[in-house]
Amino acid sequence: MRVDEFLVERWMNEYEHDVEVNLAETCVEPFTLRGFLEFVGQEDFLEEMMDTPLTYGYIEGNPELRGGISCLYDSVNPEDILVTGGAIEANFNAFYSLVEPGDTVISVFPTYQQLHSVAKGFGAEVKRLYLRPESGWLPDLEELKELVDGKTKMIVINNPNNPTGSLIAGGLLKAICEVADDAGAYVLSDEAYRGLYIKEGDNTPSVVDIYEKGVATGSFSKSISLTGLRLGWITAGSEVIHECKLHRDYTTISKGMIDEALAALAMEHIAAILERNNAIVRENHRLLGRWLEEEPLLDWVPPRAGSVGFMRHHLDVTAEELCKDLIEEESTFLVPGDCFEMSDHIRIGYGNNFDVMSEGLGRLKAYLNRHR
Ligand SMILES: Cc1ncc(COP(=O)(O)O)c(C=O)c1O
Repeated sequence: MRVDEFLVERWMNEYEHDVEVNLAETCVEPFTLRGFLEFVGQEDFLEEMMDTPLTYGYIEGNPELRGGISCLYDSVNPEDILVTGGAIEANFNAFYSLVEPGDTVISVFPTYQQLHSVAKGFGAEVKRLYLRPESGWLPDLEELKELVDGKTKMIVINNPNNPTGSLIAGGLLKAICEVADDAGAYVLSDEAYRGLYIKEGDNTPSVVDIYEKGVATGSFSKSISLTGLRLGWITAGSEVIHECKLHRDYTTISKGMIDEALAALAMEHIAAILERNNAIVRENHRLLGRWLEEEPLLDWVPPRAGSVGFMRHHLDVTAEELCKDLIEEESTFLVPGDCFEMSDHIRIGYGNNFDVMSEGLGRLKAYLNRHR
């Protein structure tokens, strides 16, 4: 299988470990292991695991963990959750299990590149459903309807969206599912950033709770701050999950049992974790919003959810040139929109701790002041 180069991963890999200030991070301030166990009041947790044999875990995932994850949904049974190596493996499994050569897959764009490149790798014709700033980075239903053809197998969304932070709320999500239903297509929704909302009380349903052929993927990395566990999940109706199991047998025997035990513990405390993390993204979002109001060289459609935003720049260079100069001159790291085929935009993460955010914005300002 031939694949396109995964541009954002290549960019991160090349620079992320050599910079002083990282504003490209998409995960909300990861816990340390000690910090996490203190947060959940379980300092002896690892000691209690010392005599656990380090063998394979449950093939489909630790039952307590699957039970915990199922509580994030209104209508999902623990048996219909498969634990995966991050949302990245969950997405891969969905394409591997459901997409065949000759299918049409419609994917929002820009988005996490995996969501269109893997479908293409598996031989689908991938059609882009463009998200534009003037529409608040939300998909247009009429355009979607025009893209649907007799071979449409799947419509792919990323909700909340990376890189724009837009959120497809209940009404539009339902309408997308209706278009999919008319076409007999699945809706794969990458919900890795679900749970992070800029306005208190904001929310949106998961696609699996509103559509029979909805397939949702989730992550412990972004809104749960346990990126190093490398865990995520996929959930869908029983028939799809059966297919995913058959395929997953060829990529995953089981995930690590220590990781899964920690993840199950996190699910017992999910409300407190989300409260911590929403406080972080909301404070940084306010800081960044105020900073942007005073910066004529950059603007954005304020993200409604998640931990990343997509800023348009008005310098006479590509975003990649700008970001490389910023590394050189200020040792500060952002993601150029070139990684999303939009070289007039830059992705910024605002899940960092407040001090890193403030320092990074100070350095970005110093850079822009020199280049006005
Ligand atoms: C939209 C989206 N999906 C999936 C992933 C992969 O996340 P994970 O760490 O859970 O594998 C990312 C990571 O950046 C992402 O942004």
